[in-house]
Parts: sequence; structure tokens; C-alpha cells
Amino acid sequence: MENTFCSVDLISVDLISETDFSSVFKIKENDIFKARKIYFAKYKKYLKDEIEILVKLKGHKNIVKILDFSLANELSIDLEWLEEDLLKWVYKQDISDLKYELKLKKILRQICEAIQFLHLNKVIHNDLKPENIMIDKRGKIKLIDFGLSEIVTGICATKDCGSILYSSPQKLSKLPFNCFSAEIWALGICFYCLSFKKLPFNEEDLLLLSSNSKNSKYVKLEFGEPKRSNQLELLILNLLSFDPDKRFNINEILDNSLWKITKSKIFENILIFDIKNIKKH
Ligand SMILES: Nc1ncnc2c1ncn2[C@@H]1O[C@H](COP(=O)(O)OP(=O)(O)OP(=O)(O)O)[C@@H](O)[C@H]1O
Ligand SMILES: [Mg+2]
Repeated sequence: MENTFCSVDLISVDLISETDFSSVFKIKENDIFKARKIYFAKYKKYLKDEIEILVKLKGHKNIVKILDFSLANELSIDLEWLEEDLLKWVYKQDISDLKYELKLKKILRQICEAIQFLHLNKVIHNDLKPENIMIDKRGKIKLIDFGLSEIVTGICATKDCGSILYSSPQKLSKLPFNCFSAEIWALGICFYCLSFKKLPFNEEDLLLLSSNSKNSKYVKLEFGEPKRSNQLELLILNLLSFDPDKRFNINEILDNSLWKITKSKIFENILIFDIKNIKKH
């Protein structure tokens, strides 16, 4: 991989997003669309972390591909261009459609497979939320935004970061916490948000939960509409359990019966398809 840019053939540039850390542009170079994320000078460390982690995780089907980077004049990283983030996507969905949960499960499963790969490699994303998960027209998922991510040696993270709305009560309490189970909490918020198009807790609820464990009696998780399958709701309850020791780890989530039901549904569809074909001949 090159570590300098050759922008001679760069013919189009559109600003996609701007935050305190970086700006993301859609660029077209040598006829190929890419995302170029340019970091502000004081966040060079985040860029270095993002490069190191994306190189370490390279090759996984559900993680954005790194194409190039520059640590010289411009502090930037080039990534494969991906279509849309999951927050924008979910707002366009009719979540009351009977087929939505089947579509949702395909998406959730891919997010879990990406997180399993991260956790297996001792990487914590640290900023898991639908805005940092991309989806294409065929429903393929890719995780992005590894600037706040880190490689951990034990179970504690060193970076204090991520959105409050996706932070576990233990993470917000400022006491040492298990960063793997905190990531499972963020995953649970993503599951909830994609299931019901809203967030389960506001900042006030979360600060109350984090200030005293007894408050978990008052801040209860309530499901939205439409009703989701019992398996999905039970899994969300587990991921958002106040006690981090009760939350599943990522392997237990992927072993859950929720996905097995999806497989048999797919099998049913294949059978129906086959029967139709048999009748034709
Ligand atoms: N590879 C990509 N392809 C298409 N769009 C992208 C890509 N990478 C990032 N974006 C868009 O740019 C937005 C910001 O990117 P990213 O999350 O990496 O930066 P950020 O500055 O860390 O943002 P934040 O701090 O808000 O999470 C994403 O939410 C997404 O909409
Ligand atoms: Mg982001």
C-alpha cells in the first residue's frame, strides 16, 4: 500500500460529512469512487489508530476496505466508497412491513459477525452506532469509523469516547469497566434502534442508571411498535441487561436461536420455489 497520494487524476470532490475530528469527501480518482477522510492536525493519533486497525482487520467481508493513506502533508485515509449509513437507511424503511424483521435479521447478523472478528482480534470499536455502519443495495453491511477504536491487552479500554446514547451505564460511571461487554450494550442499542426506529434510553435515563445501580429498578426497557418476535426481544433484553456479567458475549449472541429461525425460513422459501418449479415441468 502506498502512503502518499497521487491526485493527478482526481476529478470530482464532494463534501459528505464534517465533524470536530475530520471531514469526509466522496472523490473520483482514476474512474473509481472512494471516500477520503481528512483528519485535522491535532487528531493525527486517531488517524494512525484508524490505519493500524484497518490494516489489522483487512479482508473481513463486513469491514470497510482501506485503499491508501497519507501521514505527510495531508492527514488522510482513502476507503472504498460505500452507499449509505444505517441511520439514513432505517428512516426510509417501513418497519411495520411483515418482511422487515427478516431483512433486519440479515443485517444484525452481519454486524455481529464483524464485531466477533473485532473481539477475536482484541479490537474494540468504541463508537458503534448506525451512523458508523454502512449498507449497500444488496443489504451487505460494512463497519466504518475506526478512529476511536483500540487494540486492548486486557478487558479495559483506555480511550474514553463514544456517544452517550450508546454508552453502557458502567462506561458512563467512570469506574473501570469491561470494554467488551460495554460494546455489547452499544450493539443492543443498535439492535433496538433498527428494530423500532427510536432509541430505548435518553441521556437522563442513562446518567441515572450510571449514578446508582439501584436506579435500574426505575429505568426499564420498553419495546416499541410494531411487536418484534419473542426471540429478538429476548435477545435485546439480554444485550441491554444492566448487569454486564449477564450480557451475552459476541459468540453467545451468534449462537442464539434467533438466527436458526432465519435459516429455516430461508429453507422454507427454497422449498416453495422448488415446488413451483416442479409443477411447471
Ligand atoms: N467509506 C465510506 N463510504 C461512504 N461514506 C462514508 C464512508 N466513510 C464515511 N462515510 C460517511 O461519512 C460519515 C462520517 O464518517 P466517519 O464516521 O468515518 O467520520 P467521523 O468524523 O468519525 O464521524 P463521527 O465522529 O460523527 O462518527 C459517515 O457517517 C458516512 O455517512
Ligand atoms: Mg462516524
